[in-house]
Amino acid sequence: MTAYTSIGRLAERAGETVCLRGWLFGRRSGGRVIFLLVRDGTGVCQCVVEAASASAFAAAVKLPHECSLRVRGEVRLDDRAAGGVEVAAETVELIQGQEEYPISRKAHGIDFLLNHRHLWLRSPRQCAILKIRHTLIREIRRFFDDRGFTLIDTPILTPGAAEGAGSLFPVEYFGEEVYLAQTGQLYLESAAMALGKVYCFGPTFRAEKSKTRRHLTEFWMVEPEIAFAELPDLMALAEEMICLLVSAVLERHAQDLVLLERDTAPLRKIVPPFPRLTYTQAVDLLHSREMKEKVEGDIERARASLQENMLKLSALEAELPQAGKKWKQDKLAGEIQYVRETVREQEAFIEQSRERLKGAADFRWGSDLGGDEETLLCRYFDKPVIVTEYPREAKAFYMKRSPTDPRTVLNLDVLAPEGYGEIIGGSQREDDLDELMRRMKDEKMDPAPYEWYLDLRRYGSVPHGGYGLGIERTLAWICGLKHIREAIPFPRLMGRIYP
Ligand code: 4AD
Ligand code: MG
Repeated sequence: MTAYTSIGRLAERAGETVCLRGWLFGRRSGGRVIFLLVRDGTGVCQCVVEAASASAFAAAVKLPHECSLRVRGEVRLDDRAAGGVEVAAETVELIQGQEEYPISRKAHGIDFLLNHRHLWLRSPRQCAILKIRHTLIREIRRFFDDRGFTLIDTPILTPGAAEGAGSLFPVEYFGEEVYLAQTGQLYLESAAMALGKVYCFGPTFRAEKSKTRRHLTEFWMVEPEIAFAELPDLMALAEEMICLLVSAVLERHAQDLVLLERDTAPLRKIVPPFPRLTYTQAVDLLHSREMKEKVEGDIERARASLQENMLKLSALEAELPQAGKKWKQDKLAGEIQYVRETVREQEAFIEQSRERLKGAADFRWGSDLGGDEETLLCRYFDKPVIVTEYPREAKAFYMKRSPTDPRTVLNLDVLAPEGYGEIIGGSQREDDLDELMRRMKDEKMDPAPYEWYLDLRRYGSVPHGGYGLGIERTLAWICGLKHIREAIPFPRLMGRIYP
């Protein structure tokens, strides 16, 4: 059996003849030599095929884009090549492939790419995102494992709502209507009474009827739940976790972040302490002169940059008819599309900022902070901000009523900076049986399906709490993605279930 070397380890084999296998990522022809770019998931390697190796050369000429192939040749050190090595190919063998790979070098629209998500995943950009996602998940597990938490798997099929009946996905369960889990929290609370510190990590479902860049209908959430924890403990844990996650990604994914064109300066600022404000203070800030000045400054800067981009766009458009070669035209067309998109985004940003500012001035104490208010608040600070003690009516039934201000609950939301908004939602839980039953009655909830949950308040109730962090929103923020749909391998959105 042939032993294959992975591309990521080629440098260790300099001077030896090795066999590689992977997919054809690119090809350049220089007359009597062809350069094949082969990728295998561990890296990309340039394979040099000389006309002198007649059969390898003949095979290399015909290879279709993204075909699978095997290459055998000598590993040569070369500073100019990616990874510092290249392979002087002696044999090149097609495994399988056909012409007209659907995704070409020219720019594609987002719907096209989403319809080809199964192939789009092969692009370097998508691979970088998926690798960072993997690190994020591994570091989250490590974070809780290192601190004595026990992983608890909570059910996906559930009899009732936990986060509002409006976003439930019904499933037919032997003639009965049940729902896909919106959260593992209620079950986790019972496990916390057994094991003290627990967490669950799984897919959760919300029938969100909003098409925003922050909402998926299926997303992954990690939820810690801790017996005897109170609101300040939850804030400290969330802050520590976020700082650790960001620094792990910065440390391990410098190359990937460059590929994603992520400006890492804002990420380097993610160190404790995070600003903390109560909901009431947040509302005051929304109404303040400081907020108005900040947003107007942002609008001014966006307008200046927009002007520059308009000029750039006209220059590119003027250049296009004179481009000559096909590849040059394609390259220019790609750049034009990119600048056009940026211009559209900047125009939208200016428009939205104006509307948000107006909305902020009209915002009244009592409503939940929506996407627009969150965006304003989290653009105001350059670190994640922790907002606590929201009005009771705006939040879930299980949140503990504040002993100092009964209009509010002991909850926390963490808003990521740069406009990314809420990445964590959590609270101390109502541990008093009578108070919890009163609240459920106010919400017109039938207590019967929650009897087991109420039992936790009957038999050894203690203060406790936890939070949920959305993986995709966190990943979108850390990678600087414009939309959450790239943060999960196969996004489920309103109006999208294929592939
Ligand atoms: O604020 P949420 O709804 O809180 C809960 O579900 C609690 N039961 C968690 C807990 O206390 N154990 O959701 C928590 C996080 C949000 O901050 C967000 O990051 C993410 O889950 N999230 C979504 N992510 C993508 N698409 C959606 N539709 C999301 N809804 C919530
Ligand atoms: Mg929330």
